[in-house]
Amino acid sequence: GRVLVLNGPNLNRLGTREPDVYGTGTLDDLRAELATAAPAGVVLELRQTNDEAELIAWLHEAVDTGSAVILNPAAFTHYSYALRDAAALVTTVGLTLIEVHLSNPHSREEFRHTSVISGIATGVIAGFGFGSYRLALARITGAL
Ligand code: DQA
Repeated sequence: GRVLVLNGPNLNRLGTREPDVYGTGTLDDLRAELATAAPAGVVLELRQTNDEAELIAWLHEAVDTGSAVILNPAAFTHYSYALRDAAALVTTVGLTLIEVHLSNPHSREEFRHTSVISGIATGVIAGFGFGSYRLALARITGAL
């Protein structure tokens, strides 16, 4: 199967962005870690964009190609109804979409306590750094 690992705004700055919160690993490090963790036959594609429209187009692509999705919506998590509706397209056709966060948004500022995505996601994993993605991948590939 195919798995899209989609990352929203500012996650291209991983490594130098608030390392106390997000760690020192870069997006390339994450890509390498997931590639190593993926079982044979799983086609993994990790992408990042700062553009809401592009992220929405990638979710449409997941529907059209029957791909499972690991989604870190970043700040869009907290307010993008357009992203929520696009993510709902994925889960309503029966594809798995797991919302992931590096940090635990619930232990941070008030505005991060709300996710408009969680209600339509298959599941949510937060607070484990790159481990959040690895847990999501394990679930999608049947190891969990
Ligand atoms: C984040 C948490 C969000 O609140 C924040 O806006 C991010 C990253 C995380 O992975 O912990 O950009 O999604």
